[in-house]
Amino acid sequence: MSLAIEPANGGVAAGVGATGAGVSAETAGVGATGAGVGAEAAGICPAGTSVPAVVELSGASFAYPGSAPVLRDVNLRVERGEFVAIAGPNGGGKTTLVRLALGLERPSAGSVALFGEPAARVGRRDRIGYLRQRAQLGIDAPATVREVVAAGRVPRRGVLRLLRAEDHAAIEEAIARVGLDGQARSPLARLSGGQQQRAFIAKALAGQPELLVLDEPTSGVDVDAQESLAALLDELHRTLEVTIIFVSHEFGAIERFVGRIVLVRGGIVFDGDPAKLPISWHDPSHVHS
Ligand SMILES: Nc1ncnc2c1ncn2[C@@H]1O[C@H](COP(=O)(O)OP(=O)(O)O)[C@@H](O)[C@H]1O
Ligand SMILES: [Mg+2]
Repeated sequence: MSLAIEPANGGVAAGVGATGAGVSAETAGVGATGAGVGAEAAGICPAGTSVPAVVELSGASFAYPGSAPVLRDVNLRVERGEFVAIAGPNGGGKTTLVRLALGLERPSAGSVALFGEPAARVGRRDRIGYLRQRAQLGIDAPATVREVVAAGRVPRRGVLRLLRAEDHAAIEEAIARVGLDGQARSPLARLSGGQQQRAFIAKALAGQPELLVLDEPTSGVDVDAQESLAALLDELHRTLEVTIIFVSHEFGAIERFVGRIVLVRGGIVFDGDPAKLPISWHDPSHVHS
């Protein structure tokens, strides 16, 4: 089965062996992630030094080979614990922006830091839970919810290592957190679109990430399911204290939960309180160039 947590320029293979051993003491279960992160924030940095941003793009530009620039001069800083929505029209560059932020693409100009390191060089990929856009298209039909979620444990446990009790506990906890306890043994194909997205969110949670990046997690699901996914993410944000970057061209459901919305259209055209969004931009399908 293909993995939604994508190898970053081959970085996962290198990072995997190193992660299994060192990380387990840090957090015992999904629920402990927030506490672990908080303690790290409080403990590692002596008074007077600043905690590095989770994501920091400085003057970053990007073009796909042979194409016109997709993003120009992007400056974006996401602090630990934030819940940010990245919105904007289709083709505006949202997916490219998060791939740059995660070190999966390299900027043609400017710099990109992740957890205070050059993004492409972050070895501990298990610190990131990344739900790719249209992740469901890469899943083998017979896979059950539990199998999909277990695959999300790989960056932390390692491809060739057997799952231990703590891994199974993290997998079950992730499934419970998204409300799929009753469906753990069901093939993904039998679930509704909203439930499938919950399963992928659980997969991203299974690695107990510090940063959760969800690219269009509400696309193709009905309005009720969008509302309940938004409420779920709000709950995860509050209970796990994880940093969340939520990407969507439709952000009506999430708007009331996030303190910050970043509108992307070839660059950042708005960054701030959703309440201060110019009225014509409230529905991004109305954004025209
Ligand atoms: N792999 C690629 N190669 C060439 N162009 C691409 C590639 N991926 C995306 N693009 C182009 O880059 C632009 C931004 O795409 P994307 O970041 O996917 O936007 P969004 O996520 O906001 O819909 C679009 O014009 C798209 O066609
Ligand atoms: Mg996209």
